[in-house]
Amino acid sequence: MPNEKYIVDVGDEGSIGLDKLDYCFNPTTQEFLICSGLKSGMIVLDIGCGSGAMTCWIAKQVGNNGSVIAIENNKNQLNAAMLRAKKMGLNNIEFKLLSAYDIETLNQRFDMVYCRFVLHHLNSPSQVIKKIIRVLKPNGIYAAEEGIVNFAFSYPHNPAWGTEYTGPYPWIDNEEQNMRDGNLGMKLYNKMYKASFKIISAKIIHPLLITRDEKNLLLLGREELKQYELEQGKTEIEWVNQGIELEKIVNDDAQIAGFYASCQVAGQI
Ligand SMILES: C[S@@+](CC[C@H](N)C(=O)[O-])C[C@H]1O[C@@H](n2cnc3c(N)ncnc32)[C@H](O)[C@@H]1O
Repeated sequence: MPNEKYIVDVGDEGSIGLDKLDYCFNPTTQEFLICSGLKSGMIVLDIGCGSGAMTCWIAKQVGNNGSVIAIENNKNQLNAAMLRAKKMGLNNIEFKLLSAYDIETLNQRFDMVYCRFVLHHLNSPSQVIKKIIRVLKPNGIYAAEEGIVNFAFSYPHNPAWGTEYTGPYPWIDNEEQNMRDGNLGMKLYNKMYKASFKIISAKIIHPLLITRDEKNLLLLGREELKQYELEQGKTEIEWVNQGIELEKIVNDDAQIAGFYASCQVAGQI
């Protein structure tokens, strides 16, 4: 897609900000995939594998009779994922530098397509959802998971975390405006239904960050998003002050933070 740019400034060793997604969501994503039918022997496509923690877990589940193709359009992320798989001694994963928009060029059909927190970065997620149908085998499963950033909150409220929650909900379909949609999770069921998936399950996951270690995740990977936030109009001083306020949330044991929520939808063709 022209003028589409990933908002995270990914370093040579991959994004450290993704570690917080792994911490907050991997256990519930693993449960979701098992409930959606992930089994030994399956051939799975992982779209936008990031630094590969879930990819490697899936590879272990499908075992040596199965395999995973993991695609990424960022080579640093892909390298980080390949290194992780190598360290774990996994040899049933094929990594490819490829955009989600081009999955049909794989010329392969899958038992399951798994894609988490990738489509909400794209201007046209529906285009990819339609392509997913074409790469699934008959009765194949699409296990989809996308974020809802507007569910973030802090209590007692600190504007440094969860500001969006006080604003109007983004009911508009950003796709019509050719923009990324941080609230795509809200619309995932509808988009998959309209693409003619038979919906098997749908659920919201909303992690609460309570301990200091958990709340520290709010600070992890901030630098990687700084450039994007400045481009969106935040000033340098506002960015610094937000960091100071986030530290106050971390150090106040009476204060909790609701992380971004995630919507999990499983659909079958
Ligand atoms: C928030 S991360 C999620 C990574 C992983 N799926 C996870 O849940 O941990 C989003 C990932 O999507 C990748 N990405 C963004 N646009 C993409 C595209 N058009 N095709 C493939 N990957 C893309 C980014 O490089 C990034 O690694």
